Amino acid sequence: MTEEIRQGFTLWLTGMSGAGKTTISSLVERRLRGHGARVERLDGDEVRKHVSRGLGFSREDRDENIRRIGFVAKLLSRNGVIAIVAAISPYRAVRQELRLAIGAFVEIHVDCPMDVLIARDAKGLYKKALRGEIANFTGVSDPYEPPLNPELVIDTSTETPQESATRVWNKLKELGLIDFEHELSPCE
Ligand code: ADX
Repeated sequence: MTEEIRQGFTLWLTGMSGAGKTTISSLVERRLRGHGARVERLDGDEVRKHVSRGLGFSREDRDENIRRIGFVAKLLSRNGVIAIVAAISPYRAVRQELRLAIGAFVEIHVDCPMDVLIARDAKGLYKKALRGEIANFTGVSDPYEPPLNPELVIDTSTETPQESATRVWNKLKELGLIDFEHELSPCE
């Protein structure tokens, strides 16, 4: 990595539970680390065990969770670290607020049709939500507001995680946020 591109930024992955945010962000993280970049990943599921412990899924609590994640992402970004966020972050307004606060902000919509999410249901949460056993479940009984102008939309029902990670990578290059002299292949 050359000196002038040791610039931090926030890569924000928004999308419904089970869409693939964690998988894709992990692949991008690994690839960035392979190039010696300084990266931190902030994952909704993880953050809710620590920084956001005790918060629920009302709009107020979700916005609070997202603001906390955004606060940390901002601190990291401005100190030359690449902050990768993977959180449902269902509300457009707070995402927009963070875009303005952070500046170097790349929003990726990790999209997937509802029937595919229900069929995948890796955590068994959609089944429970559809049976009415989880209140305020995103996409079932709670809203998801897709970004209107994301830097990139990924449809994980039509592309593999590797393909999605490569599309994110190419977008970061196109935006001039990464520029490595020796490119590794996507699988390295
Ligand atoms: S966010 O809305 O505040 O951004 P976040 O990404 O931190 O959500 O957490 C989402 C994770 O919490 C989901 O992947 C799922 O495992 C779990 N979860 C539990 N209850 C809900 C719910 N009502 N809606 C969405 N996700 C839920």
